[in-house]
Amino acid sequence: MLILGIETSCDETSSALIEGTSKGPKIISNIVFSQEKIHSKYFGVVPEFASRAHLEKINWVIEKALNGKKLNQIDAVAVTVGPGLTGSLLVGKTVAQTIGYTLNKALIPVNHIEGHIFSIFLENPEIRPPFLALVVSGGHTELVIVENFGKYKLIGKTRDDAAGEAFDKVAKLLKLKYPGGPEIEKLSKIKNRYLINFPRPYMPQTFDFSFSGLKTAVVYYVRDNFSDKKMKPVDIRSICYSFQKAVVDTLVWKTITAAKKFNLKKIVVCGGVAANMSLREEFLQAGKKEKLDIYFPSKKLCTDNAGMIACAGYYKIKNSKLKIKSLEVKVDPNLKLTNWL
Ligand code: KG4
Ligand code: ZN
Repeated sequence: MLILGIETSCDETSSALIEGTSKGPKIISNIVFSQEKIHSKYFGVVPEFASRAHLEKINWVIEKALNGKKLNQIDAVAVTVGPGLTGSLLVGKTVAQTIGYTLNKALIPVNHIEGHIFSIFLENPEIRPPFLALVVSGGHTELVIVENFGKYKLIGKTRDDAAGEAFDKVAKLLKLKYPGGPEIEKLSKIKNRYLINFPRPYMPQTFDFSFSGLKTAVVYYVRDNFSDKKMKPVDIRSICYSFQKAVVDTLVWKTITAAKKFNLKKIVVCGGVAANMSLREEFLQAGKKEKLDIYFPSKKLCTDNAGMIACAGYYKIKNSKLKIKSLEVKVDPNLKLTNWL
């Protein structure tokens, strides 16, 4: 079975080809055109520019993803239908629907969050639910119990800024490049720095997250210490390191606490922020201590890509009791994670 994936929910235009094999899904291609250069001067994604860039690049990424194969050789098209930016989602959906109509191919609508969770199966098809997934990206910070393929229980989400969004906003404050996560990580690695005691928003009464208070603490720290003097590179590095540590401590503590409470032995950490080495190291250490297995997709599969969407589509076709033969899909910018099993 050959599945073409299409992902255009935010600022990556991506298409991928996945083959279903007896051992699980196999990536044939996973092409990502990043719009980073277009949005970097605005320190964030400009929705109108994002949809225009998707329109310009979508045929190119699909052509490359097909890798010499013809469109009529594929069995189905899996496309992200939300959550995300409406104009951006519509580009992917329209292209997927056109392929569906003209070549009579099944369309598989995929939730972007579900795509991030399923990214783990591209390299670790042996992992079986139940497990706890932390989806931590620019738009989301969610704790989901994956009871089975297509059966989810959301136990916590962000009440304000997503973790990646907080990275991007702090980077903007420090006049670093967009996206902020990789920049903050790079500067945090330079050993010559000091530790600032930023608050950890643990909120032990809930599994929800809130990073806007931490972001504000960084804003106040900069205002109180640098309104009358220039920040030196060591100050910038120290703020990056201390902020990153506060985010990592919070994500790890809450996720491990949830896994223990719900008696789940496996944790999957995915989404753009999961590319952060400090987060990965701290999770592995905590997992060892608590005897929990921690899994991450490789770094290139953490950030947005169509491979994860095609992978979710593959499991949806394989495991769903419903026969997917629809030629109509709808986008929803606020799409919730729903069960299909
Ligand atoms: O999953 P993703 O590509 O897009 C969304 O679904 O939002 O995640 C992008 C987010 C950005 O906020 C970016 O700053 C963050 O992931 N990110 C990182 C790192 N790489 C990307 N955050 C921390 N450390 C990183 N190495
Ligand atoms: Zn994403």
